[in-house]
Amino acid sequence: MTKSIVVLGTQWGDEGKGKIVDLLSRDVDAVVRFQGGHNAGHTLVIDDQKTVLHLIPSGILNEGAQCLIGNGVVVSLEALKTETEGLEAKGVDVRSRLGISPACPVIMPYHELLDHAREKARGVNAIGTTGRGIGPAYEDKVSRRGIRISDLYNPGLLSEKLEEAMDYHNFVLDQYFGMQRMSFDRVLDDALQLGACFSELVKDVSGELHRLRTEGKRILYEGAQGSLLDIDHGTYPFVTSSNTTIGAVCTGAGVGPSAIDYVLGITKAYTTRVGSGPFPTELFDEVGAGLAERGAEFGATTGRPRRCGWLDAVALRRAAHTNGVTGFCVTKLDVLDGVETIKVGIAYRLNGELLDIPPQNAEAWDDLEVEYESFPGWQESTRGITRFEDLPANAKTYLAAMEALCGAPVHMVSTGPDRKENIVIRHPME
Ligand code: IMP
Repeated sequence: MTKSIVVLGTQWGDEGKGKIVDLLSRDVDAVVRFQGGHNAGHTLVIDDQKTVLHLIPSGILNEGAQCLIGNGVVVSLEALKTETEGLEAKGVDVRSRLGISPACPVIMPYHELLDHAREKARGVNAIGTTGRGIGPAYEDKVSRRGIRISDLYNPGLLSEKLEEAMDYHNFVLDQYFGMQRMSFDRVLDDALQLGACFSELVKDVSGELHRLRTEGKRILYEGAQGSLLDIDHGTYPFVTSSNTTIGAVCTGAGVGPSAIDYVLGITKAYTTRVGSGPFPTELFDEVGAGLAERGAEFGATTGRPRRCGWLDAVALRRAAHTNGVTGFCVTKLDVLDGVETIKVGIAYRLNGELLDIPPQNAEAWDDLEVEYESFPGWQESTRGITRFEDLPANAKTYLAAMEALCGAPVHMVSTGPDRKENIVIRHPME
Protein backbone atom coordinates (compact mmCIF):
# COMPACT_ATOMS: atom_id res chain seq x y z
CA MET A 1 0.00 0.00 0.00
CA THR A 2 1.23 3.48 -0.90
CA LYS A 3 2.30 5.50 2.14
CA SER A 4 3.19 8.91 0.76
CA ILE A 5 1.94 10.62 -2.33
CA VAL A 6 2.62 13.98 -3.90
CA VAL A 7 -0.03 15.94 -5.77
CA LEU A 8 1.50 18.44 -8.20
CA GLY A 9 0.24 20.77 -10.89
CA THR A 10 1.84 19.97 -14.25
CA GLN A 11 0.75 23.09 -16.17
CA TRP A 12 0.63 26.78 -15.19
CA GLY A 13 -1.37 26.21 -11.99
CA ASP A 14 -5.14 26.08 -11.45
CA GLU A 15 -5.28 22.46 -12.59
CA GLY A 16 -7.76 21.54 -9.85
CA LYS A 17 -5.31 20.23 -7.25
CA GLY A 18 -7.40 21.41 -4.28
CA LYS A 19 -10.35 19.22 -5.18
CA ILE A 20 -8.16 16.15 -5.64
CA VAL A 21 -6.21 16.78 -2.42
CA ASP A 22 -9.49 17.16 -0.55
CA LEU A 23 -10.72 13.88 -2.04
CA LEU A 24 -7.53 11.91 -1.32
CA SER A 25 -7.09 13.40 2.14
CA ARG A 26 -9.88 11.12 3.37
CA ASP A 27 -7.35 8.30 3.13
CA VAL A 28 -4.33 9.99 4.75
CA ASP A 29 -3.16 11.01 8.21
CA ALA A 30 -1.45 14.26 7.19
CA VAL A 31 -1.56 16.79 4.35
CA VAL A 32 1.52 18.97 3.88
CA ARG A 33 2.12 22.21 1.94
CA PHE A 34 5.79 22.59 1.01
CA GLN A 35 6.15 25.67 -1.25
CA GLY A 36 4.40 28.85 -2.39
CA GLY A 37 2.17 30.88 -0.14
CA HIS A 38 -1.25 32.49 -0.31
CA ASN A 39 -0.75 33.11 -4.05
CA ALA A 40 -2.35 29.67 -4.45
CA GLY A 41 -6.11 29.37 -4.78
CA HIS A 42 -7.60 25.96 -4.19
CA THR A 43 -11.35 25.72 -4.74
CA LEU A 44 -13.22 22.89 -3.04
CA VAL A 45 -16.90 22.11 -3.69
CA ILE A 46 -18.67 19.79 -1.29
CA ASP A 47 -22.42 19.31 -1.73
CA ASP A 48 -22.63 22.61 -3.67
CA GLN A 49 -20.81 24.49 -0.85
CA LYS A 50 -17.73 26.25 -2.17
CA THR A 51 -14.61 26.85 -0.04
CA VAL A 52 -11.53 28.62 -1.40
CA LEU A 53 -8.24 28.00 0.40
CA HIS A 54 -5.01 29.89 -0.23
CA LEU A 55 -2.57 28.89 2.48
CA ILE A 56 -4.05 26.19 4.69
CA PRO A 57 -3.68 22.68 3.19
CA SER A 58 -6.74 21.46 1.28
CA GLY A 59 -7.03 18.48 3.65
CA ILE A 60 -8.46 20.73 6.38
CA LEU A 61 -12.06 19.80 5.55
CA ASN A 62 -11.38 16.15 6.38
CA GLU A 63 -11.35 15.73 10.12
CA GLY A 64 -8.98 12.77 10.14
CA ALA A 65 -6.11 14.64 8.52
CA GLN A 66 -3.48 16.68 10.33
CA CYS A 67 -2.50 19.70 8.18
CA LEU A 68 1.09 20.90 8.11
CA ILE A 69 2.77 23.95 6.57
CA GLY A 70 6.40 23.11 5.82
CA ASN A 71 9.43 25.41 5.91
CA GLY A 72 9.31 25.97 2.13
CA VAL A 73 6.06 27.93 2.39
CA VAL A 74 6.16 31.72 2.78
CA VAL A 75 3.52 32.63 5.37
CA SER A 76 1.40 35.75 5.50
CA LEU A 77 0.11 36.00 9.07
CA GLU A 78 -2.80 38.19 7.95
CA ALA A 79 -3.84 35.63 5.34
CA LEU A 80 -3.48 32.82 7.85
CA LYS A 81 -5.67 34.68 10.32
CA THR A 82 -8.37 35.48 7.75
CA GLU A 83 -8.43 31.93 6.44
CA THR A 84 -8.46 30.35 9.90
CA GLU A 85 -11.33 32.59 11.00
CA GLY A 86 -13.27 31.90 7.78
CA LEU A 87 -12.97 28.15 8.28
CA GLU A 88 -13.83 28.39 11.98
CA ALA A 89 -16.98 30.34 11.07
CA LYS A 90 -17.97 27.32 8.95
CA GLY A 91 -17.44 25.04 11.93
CA VAL A 92 -14.05 23.64 10.86
CA ASP A 93 -11.71 23.01 13.76
CA VAL A 94 -8.46 24.44 12.39
CA ARG A 95 -6.38 24.98 15.50
CA SER A 96 -6.26 21.43 16.79
CA ARG A 97 -5.15 20.10 13.37
CA LEU A 98 -2.82 22.73 11.88
CA GLY A 99 0.95 22.86 12.40
CA ILE A 100 3.33 25.51 11.04
CA SER A 101 7.10 25.10 10.76
CA PRO A 102 9.11 27.63 12.81
CA ALA A 103 11.44 27.87 9.78
CA CYS A 104 8.78 29.31 7.43
CA PRO A 105 9.73 32.77 6.12
CA VAL A 106 7.12 35.38 7.01
CA ILE A 107 5.62 37.60 4.31
CA MET A 108 5.87 41.08 5.81
CA PRO A 109 3.76 44.09 4.77
CA TYR A 110 6.73 45.64 2.93
CA HIS A 111 6.97 42.53 0.70
CA GLU A 112 3.50 43.16 -0.63
CA LEU A 113 4.27 46.86 -1.24
CA LEU A 114 7.46 45.92 -3.08
CA ASP A 115 5.66 43.31 -5.20
CA HIS A 116 3.21 45.98 -6.42
CA ALA A 117 5.91 48.63 -6.90
CA ARG A 118 8.07 46.27 -8.98
CA GLU A 119 5.20 45.18 -11.17
CA LYS A 120 4.26 48.80 -11.80
CA ALA A 121 7.85 49.66 -12.66
CA ARG A 122 8.08 46.77 -15.15
CA GLY A 123 5.20 48.29 -17.15
CA VAL A 124 4.43 46.17 -20.24
CA ASN A 125 6.92 43.56 -19.07
CA ALA A 126 5.07 42.96 -15.79
CA ILE A 127 5.02 39.31 -14.66
CA GLY A 128 1.37 39.56 -13.67
CA THR A 129 2.09 38.40 -10.11
CA THR A 130 -0.69 37.83 -7.63
CA GLY A 131 0.56 40.89 -5.72
CA ARG A 132 0.84 38.90 -2.48
CA GLY A 133 4.51 39.68 -1.78
CA ILE A 134 5.63 36.14 -2.62
CA GLY A 135 8.72 37.06 -4.70
CA PRO A 136 10.13 39.67 -2.27
CA ALA A 137 9.62 37.27 0.67
CA TYR A 138 11.58 34.49 -1.05
CA GLU A 139 14.29 37.01 -1.98
CA ASP A 140 14.67 37.96 1.68
CA LYS A 141 14.95 34.29 2.62
CA VAL A 142 17.78 33.75 0.15
CA SER A 143 19.52 36.99 1.06
CA ARG A 144 19.39 35.86 4.72
CA ARG A 145 17.50 38.99 5.64
CA GLY A 146 14.18 37.22 6.21
CA ILE A 147 12.00 37.02 9.30
CA ARG A 148 11.04 33.46 10.22
CA ILE A 149 8.02 32.25 12.18
CA SER A 150 10.30 31.37 15.13
CA ASP A 151 11.50 35.02 15.33
CA LEU A 152 7.98 36.14 16.24
CA TYR A 153 8.36 34.61 19.70
CA ASN A 154 11.61 36.39 20.54
CA PRO A 155 10.77 40.14 20.56
CA GLY A 156 14.38 41.28 21.02
CA LEU A 157 15.66 39.21 18.11
CA LEU A 158 12.67 40.13 15.96
CA SER A 159 13.25 43.83 16.57
CA GLU A 160 16.92 43.49 15.67
CA LYS A 161 16.24 41.55 12.46
CA LEU A 162 13.36 43.78 11.47
CA GLU A 163 15.48 46.88 11.88
CA GLU A 164 18.05 45.54 9.44
CA ALA A 165 15.39 44.40 6.95
CA MET A 166 13.39 47.61 7.16
CA ASP A 167 16.44 49.85 6.85
CA TYR A 168 17.07 48.21 3.52
CA HIS A 169 13.49 48.00 2.26
CA ASN A 170 12.53 51.50 3.36
CA PHE A 171 15.54 52.80 1.47
CA VAL A 172 14.39 50.96 -1.66
CA LEU A 173 10.76 52.06 -1.25
CA ASP A 174 11.70 55.67 -0.67
CA GLN A 175 14.78 56.19 -2.85
CA TYR A 176 14.15 53.79 -5.72
CA PHE A 177 10.35 53.67 -6.04
CA GLY A 178 9.57 57.12 -4.60
CA MET A 179 7.08 55.61 -2.16
CA GLN A 180 6.35 56.25 1.50
CA ARG A 181 8.53 54.53 4.09
CA MET A 182 6.80 52.07 6.41
CA SER A 183 6.68 52.62 10.15
CA PHE A 184 9.02 50.26 11.99
CA ASP A 185 6.99 50.37 15.24
CA ARG A 186 3.77 49.53 13.47
CA VAL A 187 5.23 46.61 11.51
CA LEU A 188 6.87 45.25 14.68
CA ASP A 189 3.70 45.55 16.79
CA ASP A 190 1.54 43.91 14.12
CA ALA A 191 4.00 41.04 13.68
CA LEU A 192 4.14 40.39 17.43
CA GLN A 193 0.37 40.53 17.77
CA LEU A 194 -0.35 38.30 14.79
CA GLY A 195 2.41 35.90 15.79
CA ALA A 196 0.82 35.52 19.23
CA CYS A 197 -2.40 34.25 17.58
CA PHE A 198 -0.54 31.23 16.24
CA SER A 199 2.06 30.45 18.91
CA GLU A 200 0.49 27.11 19.86
CA LEU A 201 0.48 25.96 16.22
CA VAL A 202 4.24 26.14 15.71
CA LYS A 203 5.63 22.65 15.13
CA ASP A 204 8.81 21.00 13.84
CA VAL A 205 7.21 19.76 10.60
CA SER A 206 10.22 17.77 9.41
CA GLY A 207 10.43 16.02 12.79
CA GLU A 208 6.69 15.36 12.81
CA LEU A 209 6.83 13.85 9.31
CA HIS A 210 9.64 11.56 10.36
CA ARG A 211 7.58 10.45 13.36
CA LEU A 212 4.48 9.84 11.23
CA ARG A 213 6.45 7.79 8.71
CA THR A 214 8.03 5.72 11.45
CA GLU A 215 4.54 4.93 12.70
CA GLY A 216 3.48 3.82 9.21
CA LYS A 217 1.10 6.76 8.71
CA ARG A 218 0.05 7.98 5.27
CA ILE A 219 1.07 11.42 4.09
CA LEU A 220 -0.03 13.60 1.18
CA TYR A 221 2.21 16.44 -0.05
CA GLU A 222 0.14 19.18 -1.68
CA GLY A 223 1.78 21.27 -4.40
CA ALA A 224 0.75 24.80 -5.28
CA GLN A 225 1.00 26.54 -8.69
CA GLY A 226 2.30 24.31 -11.51
CA SER A 227 5.48 22.95 -13.08
CA LEU A 228 5.60 25.61 -15.79
CA LEU A 229 5.67 28.29 -13.08
CA ASP A 230 8.73 26.69 -11.41
CA ILE A 231 11.53 29.21 -10.81
CA ASP A 232 14.07 26.88 -12.51
CA HIS A 233 12.06 24.68 -14.86
CA GLY A 234 9.27 27.07 -15.86
CA THR A 235 8.87 29.84 -18.41
CA TYR A 236 11.37 32.13 -16.67
CA PRO A 237 11.05 35.03 -15.89
CA PHE A 238 7.26 34.59 -16.10
CA VAL A 239 7.23 32.22 -13.15
CA THR A 240 6.60 32.22 -9.43
CA SER A 241 9.50 32.47 -6.98
CA SER A 242 9.57 28.92 -5.65
CA ASN A 243 10.32 25.47 -7.03
CA THR A 244 6.94 23.97 -7.76
CA THR A 245 8.39 20.67 -8.99
CA ILE A 246 9.15 17.50 -7.07
CA GLY A 247 12.44 18.48 -5.41
CA ALA A 248 10.62 21.11 -3.40
CA VAL A 249 8.85 18.37 -1.44
CA CYS A 250 12.17 17.35 0.09
CA THR A 251 13.55 20.82 0.73
CA GLY A 252 10.24 22.45 1.65
CA ALA A 253 8.99 19.80 4.06
CA GLY A 254 12.27 18.32 5.28
CA VAL A 255 11.99 14.73 4.02
CA GLY A 256 14.21 12.54 1.85
CA PRO A 257 13.29 11.38 -1.68
CA SER A 258 12.68 7.83 -0.45
CA ALA A 259 9.74 9.28 1.50
CA ILE A 260 7.86 9.67 -1.80
CA ASP A 261 6.05 6.61 -3.13
CA TYR A 262 3.77 8.03 -5.81
CA VAL A 263 3.55 11.30 -7.78
CA LEU A 264 0.13 12.36 -9.09
CA GLY A 265 0.43 14.98 -11.83
CA ILE A 266 -2.71 17.06 -12.21
CA THR A 267 -3.52 18.44 -15.66
CA LYS A 268 -6.62 19.97 -17.12
CA ALA A 269 -7.98 18.33 -20.29
CA TYR A 270 -6.97 21.64 -21.95
CA THR A 271 -4.64 24.42 -20.78
CA THR A 272 -5.02 27.72 -18.90
CA ARG A 273 -2.68 30.38 -17.64
CA VAL A 274 -3.10 33.55 -15.54
CA GLY A 275 -0.59 36.34 -15.68
CA SER A 276 1.81 37.11 -18.50
CA GLY A 277 4.27 34.90 -20.35
CA PRO A 278 4.45 32.34 -23.14
CA PHE A 279 1.50 30.07 -23.87
CA PRO A 280 2.08 28.36 -27.23
CA THR A 281 -1.34 26.64 -27.55
CA GLU A 282 -3.36 29.71 -26.45
CA LEU A 283 -6.68 30.23 -28.27
CA PHE A 284 -7.92 33.69 -29.19
CA ASP A 285 -11.20 32.59 -30.82
CA GLU A 286 -14.68 31.55 -29.75
CA VAL A 287 -13.45 28.03 -28.92
CA GLY A 288 -11.13 29.52 -26.27
CA ALA A 289 -13.93 31.80 -25.06
CA GLY A 290 -16.19 28.74 -24.77
CA LEU A 291 -13.63 26.91 -22.62
CA ALA A 292 -13.30 29.99 -20.39
CA GLU A 293 -17.06 30.24 -19.98
CA ARG A 294 -17.87 26.58 -19.42
CA GLY A 295 -14.79 26.07 -17.24
CA ALA A 296 -15.50 29.26 -15.19
CA GLU A 297 -11.89 30.20 -15.81
CA PHE A 298 -11.32 33.02 -13.35
CA GLY A 299 -8.40 33.00 -10.87
CA ALA A 300 -9.41 31.79 -7.39
CA THR A 301 -6.96 34.22 -5.76
CA THR A 302 -7.20 37.36 -7.87
CA GLY A 303 -10.42 36.83 -9.87
CA ARG A 304 -8.47 37.58 -13.07
CA PRO A 305 -9.76 35.87 -16.25
CA ARG A 306 -7.55 32.94 -17.23
CA ARG A 307 -6.15 32.59 -20.73
CA CYS A 308 -7.36 29.34 -22.34
CA GLY A 309 -5.93 27.02 -25.00
CA TRP A 310 -5.54 23.45 -26.23
CA LEU A 311 -3.72 20.78 -24.26
CA ASP A 312 0.04 21.13 -24.66
CA ALA A 313 1.52 17.61 -24.68
CA VAL A 314 5.02 19.01 -25.27
CA ALA A 315 5.02 20.93 -22.00
CA LEU A 316 3.30 18.06 -20.17
CA ARG A 317 5.97 15.64 -21.35
CA ARG A 318 8.62 17.74 -19.64
CA ALA A 319 6.49 18.05 -16.50
CA ALA A 320 6.04 14.25 -16.47
CA HIS A 321 9.75 13.58 -16.54
CA THR A 322 10.88 16.53 -14.37
CA ASN A 323 8.54 15.34 -11.62
CA GLY A 324 8.74 11.59 -12.23
CA VAL A 325 4.94 11.53 -12.57
CA THR A 326 3.55 8.08 -11.68
CA GLY A 327 0.07 8.84 -12.98
CA PHE A 328 -1.94 11.78 -14.29
CA CYS A 329 -5.25 13.04 -13.02
CA VAL A 330 -7.09 14.77 -15.89
CA THR A 331 -9.47 17.44 -14.64
CA LYS A 332 -12.33 19.35 -16.27
CA LEU A 333 -12.89 16.73 -18.97
CA ASP A 334 -16.56 17.80 -19.02
CA VAL A 335 -15.56 21.32 -20.18
CA LEU A 336 -14.64 19.76 -23.55
CA ASP A 337 -18.18 18.31 -23.98
CA GLY A 338 -19.67 19.53 -27.26
CA VAL A 339 -16.39 20.73 -28.81
CA GLU A 340 -16.47 19.40 -32.37
CA THR A 341 -12.76 18.88 -32.95
CA ILE A 342 -10.23 18.87 -30.11
CA LYS A 343 -6.62 19.72 -30.84
CA VAL A 344 -3.50 18.79 -28.89
CA GLY A 345 -0.09 20.43 -29.32
CA ILE A 346 2.20 17.45 -29.98
CA ALA A 347 5.50 19.12 -30.97
CA TYR A 348 7.07 22.58 -31.25
CA ARG A 349 8.91 23.84 -34.28
CA LEU A 350 11.80 26.23 -33.58
CA ASN A 351 13.96 27.56 -36.43
CA GLY A 352 12.91 24.61 -38.58
CA GLU A 353 13.77 22.05 -35.88
CA LEU A 354 11.08 19.79 -34.39
CA LEU A 355 11.12 19.65 -30.56
CA ASP A 356 9.29 17.08 -28.46
CA ILE A 357 10.03 18.86 -25.16
CA PRO A 358 10.09 22.64 -24.61
CA PRO A 359 13.34 24.61 -24.92
CA GLN A 360 15.04 25.57 -21.65
CA ASN A 361 16.00 28.97 -22.94
CA ALA A 362 13.07 31.19 -22.00
CA GLU A 363 13.39 33.60 -24.93
CA ALA A 364 13.01 30.72 -27.42
CA TRP A 365 9.39 30.28 -26.30
CA ASP A 366 8.48 33.48 -28.19
CA ASP A 367 9.46 32.02 -31.57
CA LEU A 368 7.83 28.61 -31.31
CA GLU A 369 5.27 27.22 -33.70
CA VAL A 370 3.05 24.38 -32.55
CA GLU A 371 2.31 21.18 -34.48
CA TYR A 372 -1.18 19.90 -33.64
CA GLU A 373 -2.99 16.60 -33.84
CA SER A 374 -6.80 16.70 -34.07
CA PHE A 375 -9.22 14.39 -32.29
CA PRO A 376 -12.97 14.08 -32.85
CA GLY A 377 -14.91 15.54 -29.90
CA TRP A 378 -18.04 14.11 -28.27
CA GLN A 379 -21.51 15.61 -28.03
CA GLU A 380 -22.67 13.66 -24.95
CA SER A 381 -22.33 15.10 -21.42
CA THR A 382 -19.54 13.62 -19.30
CA ARG A 383 -20.50 15.73 -16.27
CA GLY A 384 -20.52 13.68 -13.10
CA ILE A 385 -19.59 10.36 -14.76
CA THR A 386 -17.90 8.09 -12.21
CA ARG A 387 -17.14 4.96 -14.28
CA PHE A 388 -14.60 4.92 -17.10
CA GLU A 389 -16.77 2.57 -19.18
CA ASP A 390 -19.60 5.15 -19.19
CA LEU A 391 -17.50 7.77 -21.02
CA PRO A 392 -18.26 8.45 -24.71
CA ALA A 393 -15.94 6.48 -27.03
CA ASN A 394 -14.25 9.67 -28.29
CA ALA A 395 -13.51 10.79 -24.73
CA LYS A 396 -11.84 7.44 -24.06
CA THR A 397 -9.80 7.84 -27.25
CA TYR A 398 -8.78 11.35 -26.16
CA LEU A 399 -7.59 10.11 -22.75
CA ALA A 400 -5.68 7.25 -24.36
CA ALA A 401 -4.00 9.76 -26.68
CA MET A 402 -3.07 11.92 -23.68
CA GLU A 403 -1.37 8.94 -22.05
CA ALA A 404 0.55 8.11 -25.19
CA LEU A 405 1.53 11.72 -25.88
CA CYS A 406 2.37 12.89 -22.36
CA GLY A 407 4.47 10.03 -21.05
CA ALA A 408 2.47 8.72 -18.07
CA PRO A 409 -0.78 6.78 -17.58
CA VAL A 410 -4.06 8.48 -16.65
CA HIS A 411 -5.08 7.19 -13.21
CA MET A 412 -7.90 9.61 -12.38
CA VAL A 413 -10.36 11.81 -14.28
CA SER A 414 -12.38 14.65 -12.80
CA THR A 415 -15.77 15.18 -14.47
CA GLY A 416 -17.13 18.12 -12.44
CA PRO A 417 -16.27 20.41 -9.54
CA ASP A 418 -17.90 18.33 -6.78
CA ARG A 419 -15.89 15.97 -4.60
CA LYS A 420 -18.01 13.07 -5.94
CA GLU A 421 -17.55 13.78 -9.66
CA ASN A 422 -14.52 11.59 -10.45
CA ILE A 423 -13.43 8.45 -12.23
CA VAL A 424 -10.77 6.54 -10.34
CA ILE A 425 -8.93 4.19 -12.68
CA ARG A 426 -6.12 3.44 -10.24
CA HIS A 427 -6.32 4.92 -6.75
CA PRO A 428 -2.94 6.53 -5.93
CA MET A 429 -3.03 5.14 -2.40
CA GLU A 430 -3.49 1.53 -3.54
P1 IMP B 1 3.56 35.30 -7.81
O1 IMP B 1 3.59 33.85 -7.44
O2 IMP B 1 2.44 36.06 -7.14
O3 IMP B 1 4.89 35.96 -7.69
O4 IMP B 1 3.19 35.38 -9.39
C1 IMP B 1 4.07 34.91 -10.39
C2 IMP B 1 3.31 34.21 -11.51
O5 IMP B 1 2.73 33.00 -11.01
C3 IMP B 1 2.13 35.01 -12.07
O6 IMP B 1 2.00 34.71 -13.45
C4 IMP B 1 0.93 34.46 -11.34
O7 IMP B 1 -0.26 34.64 -12.06
C5 IMP B 1 1.32 33.00 -11.24
N1 IMP B 1 0.69 32.31 -10.13
C6 IMP B 1 1.03 32.37 -8.83
N2 IMP B 1 0.22 31.56 -8.10
C7 IMP B 1 -0.61 30.96 -8.96
C8 IMP B 1 -1.66 29.98 -8.80
O8 IMP B 1 -1.94 29.47 -7.72
N3 IMP B 1 -2.29 29.62 -9.95
C9 IMP B 1 -1.95 30.11 -11.16
N4 IMP B 1 -0.99 31.02 -11.35
C10 IMP B 1 -0.33 31.44 -10.26
